[in-house]
Amino acid sequence: MFIHFCIIILIMNKTKNTLFSDKPITLNENSYIMAIESSCDETACAIVQGGRKVVSNVVASQIKTHEQFGGVIPEIAAREHLEAINVVIDKAFKEANLTPDDIDAFAGTVGPGLVGCLLVGLNATKTLALVHDKPFIGVNHLNAHVSANFIDTDLEPPFIALLVSGGHTQIIDVKSYSELEIIGETIDDAVGEAYDKVARLIGLPYPGGPRLDKLAQEGNPNAFKLPEAKVGEFDFSFSGLKTAASRLVKSFDGKDLPLEDICASFQECVSETLIKKVKHALEVKGYNQVVIAGGVAANSEIRRKVFELEQEGYRVNAPIMKYCTDNASMVASSAFFFDNTFDNIDVEVFSRVKNIN
Ligand code: KG4
Ligand code: ZN
Repeated sequence: MFIHFCIIILIMNKTKNTLFSDKPITLNENSYIMAIESSCDETACAIVQGGRKVVSNVVASQIKTHEQFGGVIPEIAAREHLEAINVVIDKAFKEANLTPDDIDAFAGTVGPGLVGCLLVGLNATKTLALVHDKPFIGVNHLNAHVSANFIDTDLEPPFIALLVSGGHTQIIDVKSYSELEIIGETIDDAVGEAYDKVARLIGLPYPGGPRLDKLAQEGNPNAFKLPEAKVGEFDFSFSGLKTAASRLVKSFDGKDLPLEDICASFQECVSETLIKKVKHALEVKGYNQVVIAGGVAANSEIRRKVFELEQEGYRVNAPIMKYCTDNASMVASSAFFFDNTFDNIDVEVFSRVKNIN
């Protein structure tokens, strides 16, 4: 099987420039897109119809493997993607009761992410497109997180998107399906990173974000005052908050930590900072719709605060939990709405944000 895979990749690399050269793609609401996501520690495959209707969604998580190291080890993650990739693809077709011939386009995450991990998913997707003579669509992982908001909704741009994940914290002005502009972002740590680091500091296992969130729900959000960073209009900074949390923990000098209160105070500071900037962006841009996206969009207090904006007349959307953290349905949706212009099999993986369109 692996040998076949490699032979196909070799053929593909030899012929890629002549076989597919930026042919325009036409998709409609009946089109099926099969997508693969492998940018970090989830191997995922999904089939989505018309960008909004999920017909199958399979995710193999590596959390158990990386838990023992307290974080994702890239080489191990890439190897686990290789082991899981065929299994999740088969399962996605079985769940959907479809065959590759039913698929109108194949889509894969090209970045940002861990290069070794991205390569596994991307080569598998390109191979499927090539073998079944269907278009290939390369998807930006950040566009994909935003697109999770199209699943099972009738949402249409323009809107403001707050993207909060393990690697990114951005405010995106989604002007139309073809024009997304990052108007603000973190100058240091991403929100998810800050959650995971503070969680580790107080002894919670990886990934700490959801665990910290759970404890925070039992604590007093006003127990400790933690500092909000003063940065650019729509930008964020969380490294000072992380240091302040570390100082607070040290101040207990080995005595029992009031874990719930520390978590609740940290969560209050983060969620308050995020919502303030989102509200400002909505006012400046004059939009009446806002969405949240990314793994940290699963956070209880961030969700609560953003949905409070409904009382001020805004339409608010947040993906259901399984589409907040990494999955392939959001990749298929992004391929349909944001990244659908060209059949572009030449696209290469990238590790850091280049642009969002
Ligand atoms: O989007 P994602 O699955 O992967 C990246 O693209 O980074 O996000 C993972 C991040 C991790 O930092 C994890 O701790 C955080 O999302 N996370 C949460 C919650 N659920 C996941 N952080 C805070 N509260 C949660 N409920
Ligand atoms: Zn992600």
